[in-house]
Amino acid sequence: MEIINRRKRMSSVARKIRREQDRTIGLVPTMGALHEGHLSLVREARRMCDVVVVSVFVNPTQFGPDEDFRRYPRDLTKDTALLTDYNVDYIFAPPAEEIYPRNFSTYINVEGLSDQMEGVSRPGHFRGVATVVTILLNVVRPDFTFFGQKDAQQAVIIKRMVRDLAFDTEVIVLPTVREDSGLAMSSRNLYLSSEEQQSATVIHRALSKAKEAFKDGERSANRLTEIVRSTIEAEPRARVDYVNISDSETLEKLEKLDDRPTLIAVAVYFGKTRLIDNTILNSGKKKDAVTLTKA
Ligand code: PAJ
Repeated sequence: MEIINRRKRMSSVARKIRREQDRTIGLVPTMGALHEGHLSLVREARRMCDVVVVSVFVNPTQFGPDEDFRRYPRDLTKDTALLTDYNVDYIFAPPAEEIYPRNFSTYINVEGLSDQMEGVSRPGHFRGVATVVTILLNVVRPDFTFFGQKDAQQAVIIKRMVRDLAFDTEVIVLPTVREDSGLAMSSRNLYLSSEEQQSATVIHRALSKAKEAFKDGERSANRLTEIVRSTIEAEPRARVDYVNISDSETLEKLEKLDDRPTLIAVAVYFGKTRLIDNTILNSGKKKDAVTLTKA
């Protein structure tokens, strides 16, 4: 395994793999502080592709001025050890100036999809995400790029961008990995006290309750929203930011549900920590999440 810091080196290594060796490349973009959620993407990339590149870059442009960019957990030594165990070929861990050279002035905006949910609470967030993912795709030119369903809106936006701008890569979206408690794995879970971690399990319970109600025939988005909201609000440490029910592809808000794939997405504060999670109704899959059982 090689750790690459320079974008020129990453481009030329990837070019060689494609041209001279005719091997497929899988890219897993991350911000590091790796957990089983990230590693599930790496595992699938390893299974599907000849060469696996994992990028580790805490992207400044996707954080708001009052957000946690400075204190976001960083531990490249630990991440490297994990990725070595997973037989990753390259870690692309550039310093900020490699991604954003002096006088950087070009941004990608995926319109409409970026203006709701996370986009309302975190203005400019998806502009930063779409821009950095574009740069990573251009540097690595992967055949396959891997994202998690945990960040549902991000996955929808990246898929739309890849289609609209004709990137030559296939976007693979993989199920949310959860703790045994149901809590979706997230690097930001490190911010939670043990009491808050316990409280945060209410999110998955609330989403599951809505899923059950839907199975039992409830089709009103308002009533399903209320089930999620009231279940979460019964937990005193939780403060709901939003509960949103929409078409899972277009993110168009729904009033009455039918048999199309439907996203229930939530953001909830526990103290200063903001967590997001979601579930899909009518996904066509038996399971839309994986529970990690620790050995
Ligand atoms: P990060 O939060 O590090 O997540 C990297 C990838 O791991 C994303 O595709 C995310 O959806 C996925 N992921 C996170 N938690 C997961 C879980 N519990 N189960 C399954 N997948 C999970 O998302 C980002 O970084 C950044 O926005 C990035 C795309 C790297 C651009 O900077």
